[in-house]
Amino acid sequence: MKNKIIEIILNKGNEFISGEELSKQLGISRAGVWKHIKTLKEEGYNIESVNKKGYRLAEKPVDLLTHQNICHDLNTKFIGRNIIHFQTIDSTNDYAKKIANEKEDGTVIISEEQTKGKGRLGRQWHSKSHDGIWMSIILKPDIMPYKAPFITLIAGASIVKALNNLGVKTLIKWPNDIILNNKKISGILTELSAEIERVNHIVLGMGINVKTMEFSQEICDIATSLYKEGYKVSRVDIVRNILDEFERLYIDYVKNNSKEETLKICRQYSAIIGKDIYILNGDNKEQVKCLDINEDGNLIVEKQDKTIREIMSGEVSIRGIKGYV
Ligand code: BTN
Repeated sequence: MKNKIIEIILNKGNEFISGEELSKQLGISRAGVWKHIKTLKEEGYNIESVNKKGYRLAEKPVDLLTHQNICHDLNTKFIGRNIIHFQTIDSTNDYAKKIANEKEDGTVIISEEQTKGKGRLGRQWHSKSHDGIWMSIILKPDIMPYKAPFITLIAGASIVKALNNLGVKTLIKWPNDIILNNKKISGILTELSAEIERVNHIVLGMGINVKTMEFSQEICDIATSLYKEGYKVSRVDIVRNILDEFERLYIDYVKNNSKEETLKICRQYSAIIGKDIYILNGDNKEQVKCLDINEDGNLIVEKQDKTIREIMSGEVSIRGIKGYV
């Protein structure tokens, strides 16, 4: 019910809607309307109540990552049409995996805070309340499991495209980091549930540092946020843009078997193509020159002995010669 109320208020824009009108439209008492308005205010919506006029949003809705705020202007067919929003949760990826079987393709889980946010290779992902975008998308593509890793590249391409649409010039550090001013602002964690011949579901986790101003000592040299770099962008606008961009590239891949646009974006916005980089694999560290991303989405590198090698995502980590990139 409160979701319906905020939707009506959002649609009214700057105009007031009376308590009486709301109670008529929704078939509940005025006291019931007031109770829901109170809850919405507690959730962070800045709703103004004026005697004899009614209710309206006092300012642009706060940047809460709720279904109503995101879906208000969303252009997708199925990605993000169902959004489950939490104030806090252990990990959106873990929750998405638990509910994946019973939820529809494209369901998005977002939390304002994660208490056990997970990064790649068993690392921790710092996810403080309201500081960033911590979200997971449940996907049920009809593809063979070996085709799943490419979806990480689609996610990277859509984050970079979305941020560039909003005026933030970011790059992709293949395969799953997004870079701003040589530091990481976003990472992707793709988890697959599959049988030998078919994918059951994929949970695509995205973490984006938006408002974080301080990072712990272990990561402060390699991590940053949009606000820290001077970009005050709304989290709702970012999520909406990502979902729009992601759906387009995802449908191209899983329905039309086309990787063209994703590869184009990954190459055009690459932070490492043409550069000398280190490939880290366990305790091994090898300097190579990064040449390209091939049709399979794998990295093509030239070794010191001039031989060419193809690297699959998930196999290794990449570092720049001078720093993180
Ligand atoms: C990485 O760069 O190591 C990947 C980070 C992925 C973090 C996101 S935040 C939302 C989702 N839930 C998690 O627990 N992790 C991913």
